[in-house]
Amino acid sequence: MKGIILAGGLGTRLYPLTFATNKHLLPIYDKPMVYYPIETLVKAGIDEVLVVTGGPYAGHFIRVLKNGKELGLKRLAYAYQEGEGGIAEALSLAENFAEGDSVCVILGDNTTDADISKEVKNFKEGAMIFLKEVPDPKRFGVPVFDENKKIVKIEEKPEKPQNNYAVTGLYMYDASVFSKIKNIKPSGRGELEITDVNNLFINEGSLNWSVLEGYWRDAGTFNTLLEAGKFWYEKKNK
Ligand code: DAU
Repeated sequence: MKGIILAGGLGTRLYPLTFATNKHLLPIYDKPMVYYPIETLVKAGIDEVLVVTGGPYAGHFIRVLKNGKELGLKRLAYAYQEGEGGIAEALSLAENFAEGDSVCVILGDNTTDADISKEVKNFKEGAMIFLKEVPDPKRFGVPVFDENKKIVKIEEKPEKPQNNYAVTGLYMYDASVFSKIKNIKPSGRGELEITDVNNLFINEGSLNWSVLEGYWRDAGTFNTLLEAGKFWYEKKNK
């Protein structure tokens, strides 16, 4: 399985912090943000990773990650996303890198101490997503369950969330994800949404889910950036 980190976008929610560099290179305690999802992949046994980035500071990634050896990667590649066409558009740039393998995708602002090696090892086909209970589900993709706890659809940033589960930014897909992305249209916010891709897997009955064990935050707001920093500080200084 190949690893894909999506680290494009302009990070406008974090202005003025992102005036001079890419959001994913801002510090979470003692490391740049992007180290965390890469370490999650390495811990799960994935050592071939593509970082998709964009914007004016894309070159900064090479100075920080270099060839990935220090992080335990055998192969580190980069792709450049023109504009901010959405998470699914960023993922589409990984098609050649994936070479027909399945992919484990992590959003570059997601930080977790969860160990997903079992799920990576057991993954065969379709899609696998990880859920986490959150106090503010409106900010996320939120699943809708039937009576058997099967997901019937995912709603992106719903006004009235059906429960407190967020779809985290960790996903596993088989190679059919790339043809699915070609079949979706931009949403109201002008982006190719990963939620629309996940809904295509749900419609064909091939999306599985599990609850992510451990700590998880998307560090893309001022508050969650600070909270994530505090979590890693406390974990390392206990
Ligand atoms: O964090 C989990 C959430 O991430 C999910 O629950 C949502 O379903 C999913 O849509 C996403 O929501 P956000 O609104 O938080 O996504 P955001 O636009 O902040 O993008 C998250 C990361 O994805 C960002 O750190 C970099 C990458 N990205 C995003 C866009 C829009 C790209 O690489 N390219 C892009 O064009």
